[in-house]
Amino acid sequence: MVEEVVSASRAATSRDMGRVPPAQFQSIDQEAESSELSSSRYSRLRTGIGELDRVLGGGLVPDSFTLLGGDPGIGKSTLLLQMASGLAKNNPEIRIFYASGEESVDQIRDRARRLNADYRTDPIDLASETEIERVLAACEEAKPQVLLVDSLQTFVSGSLESAPGSVSQVREIASRLMHLAKSKKIAVWLVGHVTKEGNIAGPKTVEHMVDTVLYFEGEGAVQYRMLRAVKNRFGSSRELGLFEMEGDGLREVKNPSQLFLCERLEPVPGVAIASTIEGTRPILVELQALVSDSVLAVPRRTSVGLDSSRLALLSAIVERHLKLKLAEKDLFFNVAGGLRINEPACDLAAVAAIYSSHEEIAWSGDTLFLGEVGLTGEVRPVAQLDQRFEEARKLGFKTVVIPERTPKSVLDRIEKENARVKEKMKTFRIASVAELAKLSGARRS
Ligand code: TYD
Ligand code: MG
Repeated sequence: MVEEVVSASRAATSRDMGRVPPAQFQSIDQEAESSELSSSRYSRLRTGIGELDRVLGGGLVPDSFTLLGGDPGIGKSTLLLQMASGLAKNNPEIRIFYASGEESVDQIRDRARRLNADYRTDPIDLASETEIERVLAACEEAKPQVLLVDSLQTFVSGSLESAPGSVSQVREIASRLMHLAKSKKIAVWLVGHVTKEGNIAGPKTVEHMVDTVLYFEGEGAVQYRMLRAVKNRFGSSRELGLFEMEGDGLREVKNPSQLFLCERLEPVPGVAIASTIEGTRPILVELQALVSDSVLAVPRRTSVGLDSSRLALLSAIVERHLKLKLAEKDLFFNVAGGLRINEPACDLAAVAAIYSSHEEIAWSGDTLFLGEVGLTGEVRPVAQLDQRFEEARKLGFKTVVIPERTPKSVLDRIEKENARVKEKMKTFRIASVAELAKLSGARRS
């Protein structure tokens, strides 16, 4: 049970319902009231960090409120500091406030010095503070363009008596900051730790109040960090930014496909390459399957990176339409590099990986599989096929397996590009997964 304090002002509004002035509705064509607002919408503050700017849709929007969620220790504070340094470098007139409830000013300074960013420190001001009202007062006075608040769970509002990190505190802090962002045109960033207990008083509690929700993710052991937009009022909400955590801070990963492809000298069974589109960018990724004899009454189906019900569905399709006997086999599935895929366009590659492991044949390493697979074994067209195709061409792929029913306009575009370049790409069009067995790309090992 969590106590929720109803503020006096809210109670009063509902009582006075009868005699409130009516809201003003306006025509969609009307110019924005202040020209300052309409121009500010488009003059974004660039961070100079390419991956971050892209995820944001081109930089920070001046009066926006952004929530940055993630596990403790994943690198949120580091990202904020590097963003601050990037903003300072790319925007001459900027003033940035960084309020931390977690670290002392000296600690933040220390950390800032360790980062690889080349600093122009004068526009960045630090404060170690936990009371939100004091931060708001400072902002009203000094009017910075950017306010960074670290973190949601350590700040308190003096107007409430509940403990920091409780649901009512967390909501109050988010709504105060939202008001500040909109009324004073400050780009506000709020860090929220994802709490172990799930959603209580974590970033999820305030997601609906903010303009943009970003999650910073990664496996503790892996160096890679993914910045994922799950909601963005000012850009694509499926955008993904990639970073590497190093001794001196985060570094951008410019060529993501190379990250998720394992360079191999010899092709091996159980591997097939898929292409997934994250936001606006195609990423090639290696899918791995291992089919082995099971000693268990109920064989194992383990999946990392692919939804396990999707895997169950695909393995049933493989059993039926490629005539494999998986009933007494364990099936392990893995997406290389720790990426999570949730696009049906990767189905065909997953099927190809399972088939390849079971039959112990290896697909040649320069083959890409594109296609959604249906229950009757049919291979269906995928969206943005030519975009995925071109990414593969860039990375030196030679062969692409695509759905038979790929639209003519897309095939024409691919043909045209093929005629233009020296390195031709071969395409195989298949209508059903059964045709995988006939592909000559396979080689007995
Ligand atoms: P931090 O940004 O403090 O995480 P969060 O704010 O999300 O809690 O990052 C903490 C981890 O990152 C810590 O375990 C050490 C590591 N780290 C590096 O590997 N390199 C660095 O340059 C920095 C600053 C941190
Ligand atoms: Mg931190």
